[in-house]
Amino acid sequence: MAQSDALILGLESSCDETAVALVRGGREVVGQCVASQLDLHRRWGGVVPEVACRAHMEALLPGLQEMMSKAEVAPAQIDAIAVTNRPGLIGALLVGVSAAKALALAWEKPLLGVDHIEAHIAAARFACPEMEFPFIALVVSGGHTHVFHVKSADSYIVLGQTLDDAAGEAFDKVAKLLDLGFPGGPAIEKAAREGNPKAFHWKNSCLPDDGANFSFSGIKTGVLYVARGQNQGRSAPLILDESGVADAAASFQRAVVHALVTRTTDAARREGVRWIALGGGVAANGYLRKRMEDAARRVGCRVAIPPMNLCTDNAVMVAVRGGERYTAGARDGLDLEAFARVEREAQC
Ligand code: KG4
Ligand code: ZN
Repeated sequence: MAQSDALILGLESSCDETAVALVRGGREVVGQCVASQLDLHRRWGGVVPEVACRAHMEALLPGLQEMMSKAEVAPAQIDAIAVTNRPGLIGALLVGVSAAKALALAWEKPLLGVDHIEAHIAAARFACPEMEFPFIALVVSGGHTHVFHVKSADSYIVLGQTLDDAAGEAFDKVAKLLDLGFPGGPAIEKAAREGNPKAFHWKNSCLPDDGANFSFSGIKTGVLYVARGQNQGRSAPLILDESGVADAAASFQRAVVHALVTRTTDAARREGVRWIALGGGVAANGYLRKRMEDAARRVGCRVAIPPMNLCTDNAVMVAVRGGERYTAGARDGLDLEAFARVEREAQC
């Protein structure tokens, strides 16, 4: 079989989604399954690492068995196994990496470690194969907020990043302050539809003066004050009525999206690229998708955005990125390690 037609099994367990997928030739999804842990973490208002690890252990192999039997694929047909090994919750990553090593050993298949952020960017290329290098990528999730200059499938230079919370983390924390539940992103987006985005003057509060990075901690304090009262703690009662909550959600969303769109399109203009890619859970936000498309058009760029289910964590993106590494001849050994963090080449 030509390497470009290779059937790659992808495993993803870096955070709170246990996902498996089979992708042929980097183009065709032969099977996929995502087991979300949202219901387990909801009562804690955030992802609990210990709970996530146990849930990954319970869900991974049954999910894989079910997906392979539905797709009618036998182990012998698989060419290689790709697994997210960085960055993420270390215990959660180890569940996927250990499973991938065991399968690679038992089935005698090559093993490939995949960077979760590179996989999110691969999802945009999968969704939009006509996108050409170089391009600017915005990756926004619960743990990451980065603007990259992507020069090739193996070259990712950081042009901007968050100085404190990740954008998705800010959505989750602000939703908690507004009693909107977990996960915060979809809850804020829904509440914001009924609100006035100009009710609170936070528009530029996520753009530090350095001209490249993001900061989402100041706006959180702004929301805390209007939601619970000046100088009150998080446990003070909510003082906003339903329409006040909608206004705060809409104003917060506008500020975050304004920052993300501004930094990304500035970078695109500066670097002279013709494409912008979006990835990560926050890229599922309809307001961000629309505003990015409008702003990109003004700087002469097209935008590649994965469908919603490939924005949030999934294993299709892991199989796609793993398949690229496999086709390029990369192989990892059974000593493949997991890393909670990744040092990246930066220009900022
Ligand atoms: O990529 P992802 O599934 O997991 C991580 O790698 O973190 O992203 C999850 C994050 C959460 O913070 C969630 O609130 C956010 O993505 N998110 C959204 C939306 N859907 C998910 N944020 C804003 N609007 C949404 N519609
Ligand atoms: Zn992610």
